[in-house]
Amino acid sequence: MRMVDLIEKKRDGHQLTKAEIRYAVEGYTKGEIPDYQMSALAMAIFFQDMSTEERAELTMAMVESGDQIDLSSIEGIKVDKHSTGGVGDKTTIALAPLVAALGVPVAKMSGRGLGHTGGTIDKLEAIPGFSVELETSQFLKLVNQNKLSVVGQTGNLTPADKKLYALRDVTATVNSIPLIASSIMSKKIASGADAIVLDVKTGSGAFMKEFDQAKELAEAMVAIGKSLGRNTMAVISDMNQPLGRTVGNALEIREAIEMLRGEGPADLVELCLTLGSHMVYLADRADSVEEAREKLVEVIANGQAIETLKTFIEAQGGDPAVVDDPTRLPQAQLKIPVKAEQDGKVAAIVADKIGTAAMLLGAGRATKESTIDLAVGIELEKKIGDDVKRGETIATLHANQQDVDEVVAMVRQAYSISEGESNRPPLIYEEIH
Ligand code: URA
Repeated sequence: MRMVDLIEKKRDGHQLTKAEIRYAVEGYTKGEIPDYQMSALAMAIFFQDMSTEERAELTMAMVESGDQIDLSSIEGIKVDKHSTGGVGDKTTIALAPLVAALGVPVAKMSGRGLGHTGGTIDKLEAIPGFSVELETSQFLKLVNQNKLSVVGQTGNLTPADKKLYALRDVTATVNSIPLIASSIMSKKIASGADAIVLDVKTGSGAFMKEFDQAKELAEAMVAIGKSLGRNTMAVISDMNQPLGRTVGNALEIREAIEMLRGEGPADLVELCLTLGSHMVYLADRADSVEEAREKLVEVIANGQAIETLKTFIEAQGGDPAVVDDPTRLPQAQLKIPVKAEQDGKVAAIVADKIGTAAMLLGAGRATKESTIDLAVGIELEKKIGDDVKRGETIATLHANQQDVDEVVAMVRQAYSISEGESNRPPLIYEEIH
């Protein structure tokens, strides 16, 4: 087999065989196929697309390029949840204990944040003492014991994807549905999930800004999951404004605690109940999605969800007292209000500007090497559709630096305040099964 023939075949719009896809991925991972040939193939895929069979084969070739997590020692159906990323997305932190409280085993590997979106692992590290680095045996033991553990990515998962993603990043081939879908699904499948619930975001703060693109990606991932024998569904949710009211690590932990107490903001509550009810249903812990939702509402009301959070924190070395007293979380020294300059209604909040503003305060990483300040961030006092008076606080900066003029300006720019009516965007656009 010759790589040049595969490139030509895809360039001319033909379907690659399983053996050809394996040849390209394996050869590239081993360093036998050079970057220039792999980037030519990625560009051919970008223009010519891939069939569902090709996408599934590409996914499995990337899964098998490295370690796979064996979750078979955990009882029950393991359902993973994946979000394509957004600003203020603390869903995993609230959702994991919520579904675990109903006996759904959650064995989750999460990532750190880069750029304007934060990572679950960074957020969890805001809890004093909390460890995200566990031996695999300890990770599996905790899931069997408490139904829940969340750790950073360990082992050599999907090295082919790491190498290919880095190449795509510098060859203008990131934005390709078959390549994105197989990249994301390879990581989920290598992490050992039996079933997968996907939260595909759309809007100004999302990777997929347009709804049609988000839908296409959701459909592509669901098709790959199903063709590889994983029960998979996707929810397309809004990221035209940050989720909830906080952006920043410790602030988001506080909000996740509030959610599990039944005191969370409406959008976060709704998203957790929607994703959670599908997870509970796919894990066979309810006979219908509606029944699953009722059960979730019940464990919030009767305190089981918040107790599961405490057990989870304690089991990973964290201070469970933060749940009853969130002031034990890291606190910023300064609270600086950002005030509205006119009367009206909030018409838009550009989510990625808020994410970048939080990053400038130190809540996120500009580069992989940056260190982050877990205490700082932004609290949104006003969201889309809210009335605002001139001089009223629209957002509060939690800062550890005096010089925040640039951040204040960025937050003001993110908010559009207009005199007319403004409609709150729907939170859930569509479900893909
Ligand atoms: N996220 C991924 O994990 N892979 C992609 O290709 C794009 C976004």
